[in-house]
Amino acid sequence: MSSIIAVGESYQKFNPRAYLQNNYMPPRADFSSEDCVVPWKLRCLAEAFATGKIHGHTLIDIGTGPTIYQLLSACDHFEEIIATDYLAVNREVLRRWVQGEPDAFDWSPYIKHVCRIEGKGEQWKEKEKKLREKLKQILPIDVHQPKPLGSELCHPADAMVSTFCLEAVSPDWPSFERALQNITTLLKPGGHFLLIGALEESFYLAGEAKLSVVPVREADVKEALAKSGYQIHDFRSYVMPPGLKIGVDDVSGVFFAHAQKKPMA
Ligand code: SAH
Ligand code: ADE
Repeated sequence: MSSIIAVGESYQKFNPRAYLQNNYMPPRADFSSEDCVVPWKLRCLAEAFATGKIHGHTLIDIGTGPTIYQLLSACDHFEEIIATDYLAVNREVLRRWVQGEPDAFDWSPYIKHVCRIEGKGEQWKEKEKKLREKLKQILPIDVHQPKPLGSELCHPADAMVSTFCLEAVSPDWPSFERALQNITTLLKPGGHFLLIGALEESFYLAGEAKLSVVPVREADVKEALAKSGYQIHDFRSYVMPPGLKIGVDDVSGVFFAHAQKKPMA
């Protein structure tokens, strides 16, 4: 338990701007190459939603952080999107983007890229407006609590997304598995879950903060999903090319899983 407290303390120094700079600017965000990590993530998400299987009223994103890229393909398929994060600074960064405040991070290259790969001829401004309107709640969360949202969210969500959160906030493997079980209670039986995360990473930097990460392998993720009652529909991995190893973490790759919570027996 004390190590979960230590993780919480290490996040007090998390700097959203530095995190965005490290992971969501070039070279990691190079839209001219589909082999680059950011376009790879966006394609995984776009293709999952293009199956037409993932839709409903409410989608919840676990550990949204200061980023919205993970919601761009989702927003066409849900009435309402709930963002969540442990840190007030990240919830504030999100609020500023939703309200279109001038110093917000510029997600427009992401929105344009997603419109392009979805190939539906949607104008990027249209998508930006849609996501801003659908992002109706930005809630505090702690995935280490049996009820991660406290008393909020009485109805389980129709679908769930989580990117780079569980391994980055869990001090060890048992706590990753428990956190996955905790967030699974927020998803209705039969609901779809898109999970993206770091493979074999032990740390990442976000300004002054050096965050510890529990190193996970593909097989661990598959096993944890099965143990938490999911059926896996798609699983993909990306190998981090040498040119994207830029000293901000020691990640070896990225995984993407499309899973579905088994319906009640
Ligand atoms: N989803 C974003 C951010 C991931 S960084 C992305 O894809 O880049 C990890 C995030 O987990 C941070 O925003 C951090 O504030 C959040 N976090 C830290 N402790 C947490 C906890 N106990 N429960 C939920 N989220 C937590
Ligand atoms: N992208 C976002 N978060 C990341 C992390 N912790 N490691 C590698 N890539 C990331």
